[in-house]
Amino acid sequence: MAAFKITGGEPLAGCIEIQGSKNAALPILAAALLHRGVTILYGCPNILDVQYMIKIMRSLGCEIEQEISYLKIDASELNAEHLSRECLGKMRSSILLLGALIGRCGSLTLDYPGGCTIGSRPIDLHLNALKAMGVHIQEKEEQIVCSSNQICGKRIRLPYPSVGATENIIIAAVLAEGVTWIDNAAKEPEIIDLARFLNQMGSCIHGAGTDCIGILGKCSLHDIEYSIMGDRIVAGTYLLAAAGTRGNIEIKGVQIKELQALLHICEEMGCRVQNCGTSIVLDSKHRLFSVKDIHTQPFPGVATDLQSQLMSVLSTARGETTIYEHVFENRFQTAEELGRMGADIQIKNNRAVIRGVKKLKGCPVCAKDLRGGAALIIAGLMAEGDSIVENSIFVERGYQDICKDLKQLGANIKVINGD
Ligand code: EPU
Repeated sequence: MAAFKITGGEPLAGCIEIQGSKNAALPILAAALLHRGVTILYGCPNILDVQYMIKIMRSLGCEIEQEISYLKIDASELNAEHLSRECLGKMRSSILLLGALIGRCGSLTLDYPGGCTIGSRPIDLHLNALKAMGVHIQEKEEQIVCSSNQICGKRIRLPYPSVGATENIIIAAVLAEGVTWIDNAAKEPEIIDLARFLNQMGSCIHGAGTDCIGILGKCSLHDIEYSIMGDRIVAGTYLLAAAGTRGNIEIKGVQIKELQALLHICEEMGCRVQNCGTSIVLDSKHRLFSVKDIHTQPFPGVATDLQSQLMSVLSTARGETTIYEHVFENRFQTAEELGRMGADIQIKNNRAVIRGVKKLKGCPVCAKDLRGGAALIIAGLMAEGDSIVENSIFVERGYQDICKDLKQLGANIKVINGD
């Protein structure tokens, strides 16, 4: 299996343009199925999860042209009966096909979604909302059998602002009869991007980015060209890699307001952060400071998708930091691997106490999930000597070419074939 080989010790330096966002692209791809016509997407990242989604969409009858600079989707003809099961269980976002296909096809059978093993990740909020909108759903051992004669707009209050459930409801509501309201909706920037995409396609969605979203169904949709937002988590990962290696980098293609919570932490750790309008510059010269407690939260709080990377960086900070993980119950798997590199991290329930050590030491470690893999790469860049991060496939699910990007910033990293 392929792995990353990293020789640590080089401060990152330079400028990088950030890839398109995975967590915006996946719902937008699913939403493209709503329109009996052509969608052209720019900035769609070429990552494993997008490849899985494209494979699924082709199995449904979509004609897809994939070029380096764009993705052209013709969803004029769809047949949910041809849905290939091969990739459904490999990714979380396959559940969004429910909202997209139920309105177009009237019935479909889906496998349970997969994705990183960072928690139990139930789909009850998705299913309850769609049931309330008139979708008949039968859960079998391995499959979800769905049908509906007519989806109806409803007022839905989410007990938790789930990103995926908010997206699924928005997508389903576009072809529903009447108005749908989502109360306690997720406010993540990727929700805003999905709504912007759908509105440009002709739908009528208000309030995305707030906790109350209204969607008027059955607006007529038309062909569009759309540019997907930059990936704030990839951007955050590279900023933290620069912070941890005492580097100085400039990132382009993301908006500072999407990274505010992380940038505050970077400043608290002693980094200098500059908003340069169209780019963000981070300068880290000295050993970092520990920070007061970090709590992962839905947006605008600290993103759970940056928690592992923060743990790597704080593992050599001066003093002690506690991270509380409030979103996914099993997202501290990387702590043990960091421990092999010399980090001092104690886990108790949803709390990680990180006591900063002077240095990490390079060694072979194993990625357990996507962001954890990125965190281990950061640790490898910070460490003395060589590290091997096995299971590079996890990282490829979300980072288009992390080796190329980090090399561009001066890192010593390459992909090797592991044992
Ligand atoms: N939850 C439920 N029931 C549901 C849905 C969610 O209990 O029906 C719980 C989850 O178990 C979790 C919490 O609610 O404890 C948050 O889940 P959410 O639905 O918000 O997350 P998601 O839609 O499954 C997306 C991203 C994740 C990111 C989270 C939180 C995509 C494809 N995935 O997941 O991204 O961590 O939102 O921001 O958009 C990643 O990119 O590495 C990643 C895991």
